[in-house]
Amino acid sequence: MPPARRGETDDPWAAAVLDLAAVMVRDRGTVADEQLAAARCAGLSDGQIVEVIAHVALNVFTDCLATAARVDIDWPLVRHTDRKNANAMTRSELDRLNRVAPAPSKPPPPRCFDRREHALTPSRITTDPTTKAITLPTSVQVSPLQRASVAEAAAWHQVVAASTAHDLPGVPPPAPGQIHAQLTQPALDSRRLAWLATGADGVPVAVAGLRVFTSPGQHHLAELELHVAPAHRRLGTGSLLLSAAVAACRTENRRSLIATAAADGPGEAFSARWGFRRALTLNHLTLRLDEMGQADLLQTADAEHPGYRLTGWTGAVPDGLADAFATAKNAMNDMPVGDLDYGSVAWDADRVRAMATVVADRGDTLLTVAAVHDDGTMAGYTEIVLPHGAPSRAQQYDTAVVPEHRGHGLGLWVKAAMVRRLRAEHPGVVEIETDNADDNVHMLAVNHRLGFRSYRRTREFQLDVPAA
Ligand SMILES: CC(C)(COP(=O)(O)OP(=O)(O)OC[C@H]1O[C@@H](n2cnc3c(N)ncnc32)[C@H](O)[C@@H]1OP(=O)(O)O)[C@@H](O)C(=O)NCCC(=O)NCCS
Repeated sequence: MPPARRGETDDPWAAAVLDLAAVMVRDRGTVADEQLAAARCAGLSDGQIVEVIAHVALNVFTDCLATAARVDIDWPLVRHTDRKNANAMTRSELDRLNRVAPAPSKPPPPRCFDRREHALTPSRITTDPTTKAITLPTSVQVSPLQRASVAEAAAWHQVVAASTAHDLPGVPPPAPGQIHAQLTQPALDSRRLAWLATGADGVPVAVAGLRVFTSPGQHHLAELELHVAPAHRRLGTGSLLLSAAVAACRTENRRSLIATAAADGPGEAFSARWGFRRALTLNHLTLRLDEMGQADLLQTADAEHPGYRLTGWTGAVPDGLADAFATAKNAMNDMPVGDLDYGSVAWDADRVRAMATVVADRGDTLLTVAAVHDDGTMAGYTEIVLPHGAPSRAQQYDTAVVPEHRGHGLGLWVKAAMVRRLRAEHPGVVEIETDNADDNVHMLAVNHRLGFRSYRRTREFQLDVPAA
């Protein structure tokens, strides 16, 4: 009891409860974002935070009532912070003390940012038995971002650009506008939680984003994006942000947390440290659009495929094709995903339109080329996204051929037609980037035939979120 009265305990979870209660009393209910983040870092659910607030409020209420009613003290008075004087003060003395007690000039940094072990004993994240306490720079502050301001998006970009340049040299970082859109625009069937870690002087040092999927087949899933600026690594900041994300996964009832990192890089070591398992290896390939000879390209794109015709559109699918397109989109559900517990998504016409709207709202351009069978079925399609601005690199989105129409060369056909279209309509685009799972042999064969070359590998990791 006495240590608890002084706000001291060896149990990190209880320490977070006491910290929060003390701040509530001291600052008369004003709780900073950082304090709430610290409580969540330490494993308090939102329900438990509300419970702490309720207890503080109830005690303040009792106190006010007792003071107003001049209730006699009928128990030996115990002073909170000074055991020497316990039993020595009357209530009025205590009241006076409370009134004049100087508030600390600056609130102490939230406990879970001081020492990693408060927030982050590995048992809170994973069953990994090895525990090592590491000191965090006390100056690191983690703030949850609600709706990112322009300055916060710029800070985020600064960290991601530095991290990408360090780990993925040659890979263009996302443009500032893309980051701003990513942080502020709604994504399809998901919500985004985000945290920004800053150093003593307010310099951004790390970011974490958690995509919480909302479509029915993916209620179990969340996806982590985590970057620590190279100069600030190996100090526990990545682990601190991971603990915030894991706590959020628990609050959101997510059992699977997935993350992507460069193969054999720091992200892989970090993932292994915290009990993620390797679930999928992705080959990243690029195709220079001038790689394929014009004659070869035209021959492939113009080849006859009896019973099928090519069509294409920009942005949302034309109404007349929307249902057929949605049906074809469901063919992506058998895409190899290794051991990822990815779930599935069911496409309908509204969802394909919603996806096009999300891309357009980001300022990006969505191009689709599709093969339609004589019976009206959409047999296959390929999608390319041109990032906002004047991009030189296009991003491959889905390519799929519906199972009943496989084995007719339609994948190569729609992709070659897309290359032809890009060359004609978007001459500023010099290359396409795509990624394929290691075991997606058919897609890899199509891409190699077109001239795509592997240039790096990433891995998808999955953490089975441990119970609180
Ligand atoms: C991976 C990343 C987020 C780690 O951030 P960090 O702040 O350096 O991580 P921490 O200091 O919390 O590291 C915790 C533990 O992970 C392991 N680890 C982290 N980086 C490592 C590296 N480069 N080599 C070996 N082990 C490493 C260690 O066990 C480390 O503990 P230790 O320093 O006591 O040995 C950072 O390197 C990064 O931003 N990488 C690029 C993006 C990325 O890969 N994101 C990861 C997605 S899961």
